Amino acid sequence: MDIHQVGVIGAGTMGNGIAHVFARRGYSVVWCDVEQRFLDRGLATITKNLEREVAKSKITADDKEKALKNIQPVIEPRRLADCDFMVEAATEKFEIKAEIFRDLDRLARPEVVVASNTSSISITKLAALTRRPEQVIGMHFFNPVPVMKLIEVIRGLATSQETFTTVRDLAIKLEKTPVEVRDAPGFVSNRVLMPLLNEAMYAVMEGVATPEAIDEVFKLGMAHPMGPLTLADFIGLDVCLDIMRVMQDGLGDPKYRPCPLLIKLVDAGWLGRKSGRGFYKY
Ligand code: 3HC
Repeated sequence: MDIHQVGVIGAGTMGNGIAHVFARRGYSVVWCDVEQRFLDRGLATITKNLEREVAKSKITADDKEKALKNIQPVIEPRRLADCDFMVEAATEKFEIKAEIFRDLDRLARPEVVVASNTSSISITKLAALTRRPEQVIGMHFFNPVPVMKLIEVIRGLATSQETFTTVRDLAIKLEKTPVEVRDAPGFVSNRVLMPLLNEAMYAVMEGVATPEAIDEVFKLGMAHPMGPLTLADFIGLDVCLDIMRVMQDGLGDPKYRPCPLLIKLVDAGWLGRKSGRGFYKY
């Protein structure tokens, strides 16, 4: 199916990155969130990130203007009805995503593929809420979306080969590299990454080393671009906790128990970079 108009649901960090990359590749983007102020804030971020690309001569000022014109921010979900493809990037809570999936299923034409950018929730379970389980799939982007090359493509139990091919081809058109994985809690990326971040948090909690020292170990010893605690703050500590809980529930192994210090920071509202404080102050 030809895809011209893409619906992006959610104006948080991931939603704005996803709207950015589709708009930059010439797709018309209908960008939906529940409140105008979230879209205004997201659009300011996209503008800043496009300007960064202009400053680095990756795109021209004209490309930036065209990309911004390709984005239509909307607060009425019914405006998504004409989209040829949809990707949901709402909060990482099953109940919220479930409601959105039911709505999108009602709104979208029967042939339209509905993808989720979930970082850990079961695609099979989201698909089962719709009348189109063959056309539901995971399309997991990485932060910062305009920079990171990977898209993890997750097949639910019922996902058809045609749906998989659509998303794989779309990822390539976005100049990303799709990697296919099966549906399991945390998929591959977070199944492996989150226990590393969680263990680094235990090391802080137990006084093994400071966050700065742990991050230096990983930056200098393992050539990670960011140490695990800087990365956790960058992802958002609430997001890290949600993902650990999905893996703890879904896999049942105590090794996925979220670090008590992580829970404490989230309870305090110290969510990392976005709230001004996490393991570090910003
Ligand atoms: N939009 C557009 N471009 C951006 C950008 C943005 N939001 N953020 C950074 N860039 C560009 C910069 O312009 C720069 O471009 P250049 O290479 O042409 O000069 C390049 O990215 C590098 O940026 P900086 O020089 O400003 O800074 P760094 O070299 O420190 O890199 C980083 C920043 C790319 C964020 C790097 O630190 C990094 O790769 N960190 C790890 C990120 C990571 O692991 N992400 C995955 C998180 S997990 C996830 O998303 C999954 C979820 O489910 C939890």
